[in-house]
Amino acid sequence: MTMPISRRRFVQGAAAVGIAAFGIGERAFAQTPPSRIRKSALQLPPGDPIFQDYIRAVEAMHGLPQTDPRNWWRQARIHADLCQHYTPEFLPWHRHYLNQFEAICGSLISKPNFALPYWDWSYGIGQIPDALYSVDMPTPIVSHLDVTYWNDPGVYSSPNWPNIDTIGIRALKKSMGVQNDPQNGGAFTSQNIHSILQETDFSIFTNRLETSPHNSGHVVVGIPPAGQMGHMGSGLSPLDPIFWLHHCNVDRLWAQWQLAGNTSPQFPGNYNGQFVDASGQPVDLTAAGAIDFSALGYSYDQFPSPANVLNLAGLASATGQRALLESFDSVQHIDNGPVTIGTLTANAQVTLVVPTTIPVPVSNLATQFRSTRTTIDPNLPSLATLQASGGIERSMLSQFGRTKKVPRRILARLTNVTADFTRPPIVNTFVNCPYLSPQTPWTDAHYAGTFAFFGPAHGHDHGSGPNFVIDLTNALRNIDVDNAQQLKVQFVARGSSQDAHPSFRVGKIDILSY
Ligand code: C2O
Repeated sequence: MTMPISRRRFVQGAAAVGIAAFGIGERAFAQTPPSRIRKSALQLPPGDPIFQDYIRAVEAMHGLPQTDPRNWWRQARIHADLCQHYTPEFLPWHRHYLNQFEAICGSLISKPNFALPYWDWSYGIGQIPDALYSVDMPTPIVSHLDVTYWNDPGVYSSPNWPNIDTIGIRALKKSMGVQNDPQNGGAFTSQNIHSILQETDFSIFTNRLETSPHNSGHVVVGIPPAGQMGHMGSGLSPLDPIFWLHHCNVDRLWAQWQLAGNTSPQFPGNYNGQFVDASGQPVDLTAAGAIDFSALGYSYDQFPSPANVLNLAGLASATGQRALLESFDSVQHIDNGPVTIGTLTANAQVTLVVPTTIPVPVSNLATQFRSTRTTIDPNLPSLATLQASGGIERSMLSQFGRTKKVPRRILARLTNVTADFTRPPIVNTFVNCPYLSPQTPWTDAHYAGTFAFFGPAHGHDHGSGPNFVIDLTNALRNIDVDNAQQLKVQFVARGSSQDAHPSFRVGKIDILSY
């Protein structure tokens, strides 16, 4: 379920309880109203003019010569040459990339307010909007937003992303949902999205958002069970028009996380000359300049309802106002870091389809599982400020209190995960499941999360690989935490190849309480 939450409504809420408007940090957004509002593609009819506009832009970019950096293939090459993956700048780099692309689209179709629609995987069963497959005139014809319509070249190599060899196909067929897939659907549910939005630490937030649903989206669209890879599985993924809608949704979740009061780090990156503007001229941009998306001139029609606020409202009613009041601003020492309660240098191999169990010893699991953590949002007024202003409504406290106690979560961090990225697996993670089989679906009570491999520079099964963070908390509700001396972390990997090669290797597993 989603609901519209705007900065405007947020400020009105503050005014309603009689406190002065405030605005520092990432909440100081939206000084001027955005001129481009990105809408949810799945909630628009296939005949909506936005799809016609996008078709015209895609056609116009294909019509430009390859000497023009706004040409469709040249735009995709920016990604293959320069994209940031598994770095802290995954989100800012792609934000600028989308924003410049959107400006080029708008200029080529003479609609400067053109805004890309986004692919909200959590809506309905999450299928790709029909308009990206066919246009149902009297008889259906292939949409020019379908990657199969274009014969874009898919062979390319750059230092950033070597050995790309893809074709214009989608493994996800029309009307096929991502969420109702018994093996891969778990990445796209609103439950998973809300769990990711609850992360207050940017590095954990971006890691989870990138590795799944983002990577999973590339894999389910781009990697067929057998045969050649589609563009979406590679560095040339922007050749498929769905890429831009997929990344809009990733960007929207970062925006939502920012609006919820979280803080992104000071990104050092400098992207001078990496992107071109609407007239095809190189632009000078920095990663730090991506933080304030409203300054870039766009926003979204709606954001997922913030689970952290909802959870706190639930906590409030469970504990009563007095306990709630005590939980705000009463703590001098803010404990913000994760605590390691188990670790194993595994160097374990996980083979495609065969369920693999790695037992990780843990201590204090039950205590940690039942304790709370205190978070602080320096952008918000303190409780004292709120009380001085009078008339605080209980329901507002969960939104405006500066410090909060939140239930701790138990996370598994996999370090140095290496795989053959030319045949990248999607991996479902379970905890202590006694009957795990390749068919166990993500709806099982022991399911914890999904991660998928996508990205350059980790092409072979040696050297160092990325980290993945999985939230085990929900799955742990179904086991006997009081007597657990170890956690059985379990993986079922699926991939494009059914042969016996190891599909990935895990260097180390840490169990964190956070
Ligand atoms: Cu740089 Cu989703 O890709």
